[in-house]
Amino acid sequence: MTTLANLSDHQLEQLKLFEPEGSVTPDNGDSYFSDPSFANNKTRPIHRWVPWIAGFSSSFVRDVLQMYLESQGTVLDPFCGVGTALVEALLCGHNAIGFEINPYAAQASRTKVNAHLITVSELECEISRFQAFYKSKTSDGYVPKSTPPEGFRTRSEFYSPRVLHKVLILQDFIDTITDSNLREIFRLAFASTMVRYSNYSYEPSLGRRVSAGKQEILDFPVGQAIVNKLLEMLVDTSWFQENLRAEPPSAQVINDSFFNHQKYLPPASVDLIVTSPPYLNNYHYNRNTRPQLYWLGYAEHPKDMKPLEQSNFGKYWQTVRERDRLDLEFSLPSADLEEQLQTLRQLKPEKGIYGGNGWANYAAAYFNDCYTFAKSIKRTLKPNATALVVIGNSILQGVMIPTDQYFGKISESIGLELVRIDVPRATRVGNSIIQSDIRVVKAKKSHQLYEAIVELRNTDIT
Ligand SMILES: C[S@@+](CC[C@H](N)C(=O)[O-])C[C@H]1O[C@@H](n2cnc3c(N)ncnc32)[C@H](O)[C@@H]1O
Repeated sequence: MTTLANLSDHQLEQLKLFEPEGSVTPDNGDSYFSDPSFANNKTRPIHRWVPWIAGFSSSFVRDVLQMYLESQGTVLDPFCGVGTALVEALLCGHNAIGFEINPYAAQASRTKVNAHLITVSELECEISRFQAFYKSKTSDGYVPKSTPPEGFRTRSEFYSPRVLHKVLILQDFIDTITDSNLREIFRLAFASTMVRYSNYSYEPSLGRRVSAGKQEILDFPVGQAIVNKLLEMLVDTSWFQENLRAEPPSAQVINDSFFNHQKYLPPASVDLIVTSPPYLNNYHYNRNTRPQLYWLGYAEHPKDMKPLEQSNFGKYWQTVRERDRLDLEFSLPSADLEEQLQTLRQLKPEKGIYGGNGWANYAAAYFNDCYTFAKSIKRTLKPNATALVVIGNSILQGVMIPTDQYFGKISESIGLELVRIDVPRATRVGNSIIQSDIRVVKAKKSHQLYEAIVELRNTDIT
């Protein structure tokens, strides 16, 4: 078996590459910040545990922590996803607080930031125990005790029978793990790989493999996939423990909407906010994580998904498209947001809920949440502290919505200082509105999608 002790020199060398850098190296053309996109996380320790759409890069977070925090402070990510900002904050010696509404993502964040609580040798033993259990149960006609989650309905069979048998053996094993931290590691190893051996795939929204022109998966070495993931986690856990300061700072992952922040955070308690809220692209985090939510036991019935949809930042188009008219709840004389929404509203009325009005409702709901978010930033930041908000623009029904500009103006209107808006990358891909989920007019060539970093400061000290 591969263990930490017998990892190849090459693997150990690879890990050395990830020693925390000592200096700030923003190198992104004219841009002030490094590229915030997730891609480079796929090879970085701890960050590579769980793929997450629209996660941001660990080196971007590291750069901004070094640029904005001179001494130990409290870093908040109000939409922490799978915890990129929290992990980096801990590694740099800061306290970290994250809010995340999706229980699977929140659990992933929690498992990562708690990696220092794992005893590496015990994890090694548990992996060996799993290998023996799996080998014997897959070869002796074993009938697993676990069953698939009853409420999880899919258009076609999620797992082929052979794959399902192996997945259920894994579930039986997980039920035997007594240490809660180790159990969470195994559950995450399963959740982060589970779609790979299913008949579904991310394109980037979750859909049937056959719809994407791929073959169904009739059989798969599930045990090997899990062991590989666990070994990655084992190596990274050891790396994390070596790289954390002697006295680990505190980390808190709150599985609740950030809009309930008053329940958890005193005013003026945060030194730096680094975050990326959902974009105005209707990427459906909850539908796309249905397999994980059901299989991990966070959802048992479709009604369990409703509260998540309702409190998601910006809502979803599906939740507001049937409303007659949803308006902005604030006024913004400094920008043409109202006019843009009006233009959008009048497009294609003959298409009913698929026409401009539904999309204008969605955009209005989104900007209403931007307004509440800006006020929450103002309340939680200490005087003179900074918030960096990574946000993408959007194109709805061919109408370009410069979300970053509007968010900047909204923030100014509630008394935050807009320090700058920086656009590190000219284009971005993977916008589910344009690609697949919902058929809308293709983006005009003249419109480009980009991501921007909106830098805000809480200058008002009264
Ligand atoms: C763009 S992703 C953030 C990804 C994160 N930066 C990372 O690296 O993993 C936005 C996240 O906000 C979460 N979210 C949506 N509405 C929320 C709310 N009201 N409160 C807290 N989290 C929310 C989504 O579930 C999603 O994980």
